[in-house]
Amino acid sequence: MKEQPTPIRLHSARGSLSVQDLSVRYGSSRVLRGVSCEIRPGGITGILGPNGAGKSTFLKGILGLVPVETGVVRYKGQNLRSEQVAYLPQRSLIDWTFPATVWDVVLMGRVKPTGWLRRIGRQGRQRAAQALERVGMQDYRDRPIGQLSGGQQQRVFLARALAQEAEIYALDEPFAGIDHPSEAILFQVLRELADSGHVVMVVHHDLGQALTYFDEVLLLNQVVIAQGSPAQVLQPHLLQQAYGHSMTLDLAA
Ligand SMILES: Nc1ncnc2c1ncn2[C@@H]1O[C@H](COP(=O)(O)OP(=O)(O)OP(=O)(O)O)[C@@H](O)[C@H]1O
Ligand SMILES: [Mg+2]
Repeated sequence: MKEQPTPIRLHSARGSLSVQDLSVRYGSSRVLRGVSCEIRPGGITGILGPNGAGKSTFLKGILGLVPVETGVVRYKGQNLRSEQVAYLPQRSLIDWTFPATVWDVVLMGRVKPTGWLRRIGRQGRQRAAQALERVGMQDYRDRPIGQLSGGQQQRVFLARALAQEAEIYALDEPFAGIDHPSEAILFQVLRELADSGHVVMVVHHDLGQALTYFDEVLLLNQVVIAQGSPAQVLQPHLLQQAYGHSMTLDLAA
């Protein structure tokens, strides 16, 4: 497989997710243009960029949730299959009035491996219970999801992703507006997933936290502005390219 070079490259590991020439348009507006990058396992990759940069579209394009104009997505050298990915959509896109309990939501993580028409068996229920426990939400099993705080909801959705036993985790702004204990749990679970060789990518919008949260950063605004370590990427001239002048000044302040 021929890899597209990215602006800054580290070593290439096995089990990487490789995105080549991804372009997406909604109607007449082009949101992503020729995005090529490689997301490696073993670290947490932050996907950063201003509002409307195409960060959510990047994840959806990889997952095949939006039609792509061009683009090839490979994982371990093969075409990516949707069941290999656990995806947490941006919170604002989830219908929180959906009448489901915490347990229902976590069990949904088992639907793909089990198939819609088959009952979720003992092993699936066990995995779902373990996942719920891992995020510290086992006491909320029977609560309607809509009655939880934002942080608790994100923990439940992370449990659903864990129950799915995917190889790749794609999370869209999971830390937005959540409490500190939930943030710590989420981050610790993501770290463990990365340490155990999963590909973990997280859309995030706080540049300050990016330095401590992420091992690698992909800076996007329609195109890839840069990819590399946070120190390599979070430089004024690159941020200016991504965010424009005012953001650079804000950061310096
Ligand atoms: N389904 C859609 N139909 C038409 N335009 C869309 C659609 N989804 C997103 N867009 C537009 O595409 C652009 C990129 O959207 P996207 O949601 O990917 O950006 P983002 O970087 O995730 O932004 P945010 O930080 O606000 O979440 C925006 O201008 C948005 O308005
Ligand atoms: Mg978004």
